[in-house]
Amino acid sequence: MPESARTHYGSIAQIFHWITAILVLIAFIYGPGGSEQRVYLPSRDFDRQLHETLGLCVFALASLRVMWRLVDKQPDPPQIARWMEIAGKSVQGLLYLLLFAVPMTAIAGAWLEGHPLTLLAGLQIQSPVGAAHDLGLRSAKIHTQLGDAILWLAGLHALAAIYHHAVLKDRVLTSMLPRWLRLRQADGR
Ligand code: HEM
Repeated sequence: MPESARTHYGSIAQIFHWITAILVLIAFIYGPGGSEQRVYLPSRDFDRQLHETLGLCVFALASLRVMWRLVDKQPDPPQIARWMEIAGKSVQGLLYLLLFAVPMTAIAGAWLEGHPLTLLAGLQIQSPVGAAHDLGLRSAKIHTQLGDAILWLAGLHALAAIYHHAVLKDRVLTSMLPRWLRLRQADGR
């Protein structure tokens, strides 16, 4: 391998990746499912507020991450079969799309249904648009479907990374691990 080869993502790209993964997972767990009446019950305020706050953080992080990606140096592509590279890039592209589409359909859904965004600490963001209830309901439904889809796709993406590491024994997974973890692995600890 040439001396100048870049074999892993930079630490800021790694932080974006792992924080996003954790926030998406917790937002999914606290998804306020059910009918509109149920979602907006006072007894479900905390779950909904936590969910909406985490979801907005995911949205903000995804925006910053895309901007960072434009200026950050990417690792050299791993030496893997062409079809695997195309499949991996396609899943990553879809994940990026969903990181925007999932929050955007939720925000549109809540606002068009006539609800403000309700965040932790009692913060509210009022709707800047008039209500169009049926459209809002449809957007909220698409949001729940895309919310499920992002989890399935992230699961597939994680399984593929584990396969690369355990079976193909290449550096796809380790390229997203921090230096201290890579060192521990190299030591066999
Ligand atoms: C990546 C971020 C997000 C993920 C993974 C996600 C995931 C989900 C999932 C899976 C559900 C359905 C829960 C169930 O059926 O039990 C749901 C519902 C919901 N989410 Fe999100 N969500 C995210 C971001 C947001 C944001 C930013 C908001 C802010 C408005 C939001 C508001 C809602 C609401 C209000 C519902 C209930 C929808 C309804 O049926 O009316 N979500 N979310």
